[in-house]
Amino acid sequence: MKKGLSNGLTNYGDREFALFLRRSFARSMGQSEQLLDAPVVGIAATGSGFNNCHRAMPELVEAVSRGVLAEGGMPRVFPTISLGEVFLNPTSMKFRNLMAMDTEEMIRAQPMDAVVLIGGCDKTVPAQLMGALSADVPAVQVVTGPMSTGRHKGERLGACTDCRRFWARFRSGDVDEGEIETVEGRLATTAGTCAVMGTASSMACIAETLGIALPGSAAIPAVNSERLVMAEASGRLAMALVKKPIRPSQIITEKAVENALRVLMAIGGSTNAIIHLTAIAGRAGIKISYDRLNAISDETPVLVDLKPVGEGYMEDLYAAGGMPAVLRELKPLLHLDALMVEGGTLGERLARDGDWVDRRIVHEFAKPVSQNGGLIALKGSLAPDGAIFKRAAATESLFEHEGRAVVFESLEDMAARIDDPGLDVTADDILVLKNAGPKASGMPEAGYLPIPRKLAQQGVKDMVRISDARMSGTAFGTVVLHVAPEAAVGGPLAAVHNGDRIRLSVRDKRIDLLVAPEEIARRLAGLAPLQAPRRGYAALYHNSVTQAPQGCDFDFLAGR
Ligand code: FES
Repeated sequence: MKKGLSNGLTNYGDREFALFLRRSFARSMGQSEQLLDAPVVGIAATGSGFNNCHRAMPELVEAVSRGVLAEGGMPRVFPTISLGEVFLNPTSMKFRNLMAMDTEEMIRAQPMDAVVLIGGCDKTVPAQLMGALSADVPAVQVVTGPMSTGRHKGERLGACTDCRRFWARFRSGDVDEGEIETVEGRLATTAGTCAVMGTASSMACIAETLGIALPGSAAIPAVNSERLVMAEASGRLAMALVKKPIRPSQIITEKAVENALRVLMAIGGSTNAIIHLTAIAGRAGIKISYDRLNAISDETPVLVDLKPVGEGYMEDLYAAGGMPAVLRELKPLLHLDALMVEGGTLGERLARDGDWVDRRIVHEFAKPVSQNGGLIALKGSLAPDGAIFKRAAATESLFEHEGRAVVFESLEDMAARIDDPGLDVTADDILVLKNAGPKASGMPEAGYLPIPRKLAQQGVKDMVRISDARMSGTAFGTVVLHVAPEAAVGGPLAAVHNGDRIRLSVRDKRIDLLVAPEEIARRLAGLAPLQAPRRGYAALYHNSVTQAPQGCDFDFLAGR
């Protein structure tokens, strides 16, 4: 089998010449002859001046390279695009598939025998796993790791559940301008991803559960030396994969995906992770049905007590035993024969672990944080193809709620009117946002609609909110998300008028627009179709993106 630089030679019609030329150009980078003959491990590096979560990328790259060199390989670092959550407009989600394509094509096009993927911020790990699974070169995922918390007036602060909490207090007048400025400098104080169980942390836990990242790697704080040790070990592991290849398609199987779904429930993970896991699984031709998701959610308790659902931060999960402690607790529900990247099975991996666990953070199966999983899918006349609801982060008294719709036609409409003192809204109403789905606007994290200022000032902390948008994994509230089909493609959400009645039933897992079906059809028939962008990535995205229940991948990238 061809190895190293002789992999995938450039086609000039003369193989020997192509290799001669490649080696000669590699020499211009100062490679010794000995290394030119070595296996090559690619290192997908995603540092960027627009990605604070990847600030520690250089030392992680160095540590992975050290591991590869120690095992006699040639590390080759290559860049792909990087997606820094808060620096992208209209939303990072629009570019996840672009990063996945970049990752897939660069793994496939360049001569590497194995690849180490280094990502962290929300969309980067999903993009890397999607790309690596499609390229199917032996791969190891390394995550940048979570931020450590900051301090403010004696309390710990972590991005970004506390960002939202303080901002809500500022909007209600409880915190003044001076204090909010101080807090701004104390929310995100180290390298790494958001400090709570948001999307980045959920995806890190999922990568570890899938078996494509090393055991114990998900929760190590970004600035802890242990993370560098783990990165070095990942470099060594990539070399082991060169000798005895295990491909992503052997690891990310139906059983592994089901394990990941269970873990997502047990960690009280992010709603976004459902979309990402669906897209990753979709690359292997595996479908995640909302019925199966609900069954798993009903059987799987929330075990991890971290914000936004509970109290702790990712640094606490690390100290409490990390993902190994969670997986041990979930063992009776897991497929223990799932293959791990280091060889062996999940069951064997767990048998090797120690038994340390801090029960304040990782609860016993018999004494969970809550009896059922954190996330469920809803269906009903408002969302015929489904919607997602994070019950673990919602207000229980709103679980069975009927109210009057207060409708915003778009993000711009919401921004213009939500704080209008004349807005006709009460705490019992249901806020509805349209046209924030994947095709309409790239599906931004706008589903956590702010409580209208006049209600916030009266002390209203939560209301039922519904949209075809996503919500940050660090957010909380009684929020129905990912309504499908989205309004812009003619889903019933587009037919909601101000004053219509809507009913949410978490017990029945339903979300219904209480308007006669003929009237809904009549209203939808009168809507103008969405205008398609004419050129560039925006046109590709518009024409190819699927709806949330299919993972918002491009239709031509799904499957093997
Ligand atoms: Fe990167 Fe939250 S902004 S993980």
